[in-house]
Amino acid sequence: MFAGPNNIIGVDSWAVDYALLRDGSMLDNPFHYRDARTARGVDAVHARAPHADLYARNGLQFLPFNTLYQLAAERQAFLEFADRLLLIPDLFAYWFTGTERAEATNASTTGLFGVRDGAWDRDLLSTLGLPAKRRTPKAAFDYTDGAAEGELSLARARHAFEDIEFHPGTRRPAEHADTSVEILGGPSALPFGIAPTGFTRLMQTGGEIAGASAAAAAGIPFTLSTLGTSSIESVKASNPAGRNWFQLYVMREREISYELVRRAAAAGFDTLMFTVDTPIAGARLRDKRNGFSIPPQLTLGTIVNAIPRPWWWVDFLTTPKLELASLTDTGGTVGDLLNAAMDPTISFDDLAVIRDLWPGKIVVKGVQNVEDSVRLVDAGVDGIVLSNHGGRQLDRAAIPFHLLPQVVREVGPDATVMVDTGIMNGADIVASIALGAKFTLIGRAYLYGLMAGGREGVDRAIHILRSEIERTMTLLGVSSLDELQPSHVTQLTRLVPRADTK
Ligand SMILES: Cc1cc2nc3c(=O)[nH]c(=O)nc-3n(C[C@H](O)[C@H](O)[C@H](O)COP(=O)(O)O)c2cc1C
Repeated sequence: MFAGPNNIIGVDSWAVDYALLRDGSMLDNPFHYRDARTARGVDAVHARAPHADLYARNGLQFLPFNTLYQLAAERQAFLEFADRLLLIPDLFAYWFTGTERAEATNASTTGLFGVRDGAWDRDLLSTLGLPAKRRTPKAAFDYTDGAAEGELSLARARHAFEDIEFHPGTRRPAEHADTSVEILGGPSALPFGIAPTGFTRLMQTGGEIAGASAAAAAGIPFTLSTLGTSSIESVKASNPAGRNWFQLYVMREREISYELVRRAAAAGFDTLMFTVDTPIAGARLRDKRNGFSIPPQLTLGTIVNAIPRPWWWVDFLTTPKLELASLTDTGGTVGDLLNAAMDPTISFDDLAVIRDLWPGKIVVKGVQNVEDSVRLVDAGVDGIVLSNHGGRQLDRAAIPFHLLPQVVREVGPDATVMVDTGIMNGADIVASIALGAKFTLIGRAYLYGLMAGGREGVDRAIHILRSEIERTMTLLGVSSLDELQPSHVTQLTRLVPRADTK
């Protein structure tokens, strides 16, 4: 670097390496391109985009340290926490000038820059799962991506899935992996369904309709939340022949809940999912920091954040108003409705009343210990979902995937035990099925796809999970899901309870 008489500063550095920042501060020192971690990234990237495809897009010879490989080996939590990536020369430029920019020739070394149009390759970013954050305003992204308090439950749940060891048999790999299952009296082409999520149109205006129609195309169940932003009837219209499930929060004013139950039954939804982990809302600190409001307001902060994402706002402001579509007839502000939604006094008696109202299957979601699992199965529910709400309620609650083997042992092999929280890869789903889950639910894995690309993004997310499931099954040497056994998986643990506290 040299500061000459004209006050020009040149920055000479190696390309491809980068720093991750949040609110202008580096999260960690950059890794050097020679760091051995990038080898992992090469496999991960080529599994989704072979080098020939990459070459056609970015015109780069294969160099294992290009930024896209480094990013694929990056720590997930850092990628999620960062709000900016700067290549090293751009980082120096930022420090000197305060301006965050990506210089084009340097950007071309990332592998993520189009050789033909000289612009960021959004399709490739989407294929590699990197773009949702870029397309969605910070408050809406954080509402989706975030969890409660220190977000430890979510991080631990994801670690739990990373920390498994698979044990393939020595048999010849199965030629075709059949991913279909029977669940709650009906078929599903894949061993997962879409979890209920509130305010889904906030993330991308396609919202529940994008989710339900993608579920219809994939032949998997879609679950509509009580706090959904598309109506029961419109979800049915988007998934007319497929399976729709309805998630119920029991309101303080019980009649509101009962009316929703009747509407869902009339629309032909086949399963009611009764959520029990939400006596009050968890402390979502990112939402507090962002001043997150529903519906989102155009404030100075949101306008600044909207500058790189104008289409989200154009879309948001030109499509139907965001509201709780199943509850529009009940009056009150959205805040009033949210308060009404959470009733700390719900009990097994509510379950009995709903049983009388609902002709289909009843599932309890948010079960977090062995005793409740046994009690609910004994009480005759059709299924339970081991879940801590994606870490959004009680932080540091037990990891559902860790509870799974013990719960299955206690309730017996015939009970329908499902699991969610932290699923980001088809291999997570295969491991859950091997350890006795009959089915799984995906929340954020679907929402990231939705934020990145609307309906097509959800299709893509389902496609990626399906190919991961098929590949994992084939490599394990099983051709159907019921061949999966606990012996195919060992759960390793990072945090072990101290002997004297048990
Ligand atoms: C943005 C968001 C909104 C959610 N809203 C609801 C809801 O309205 N009702 C509910 O029972 N669960 C809700 N959940 C929890 C999901 O149904 C599911 O349990 C959780 O997302 C699973 O964890 P995962 O995101 O790691 O897959 C929500 C989750 C997210 C991420």
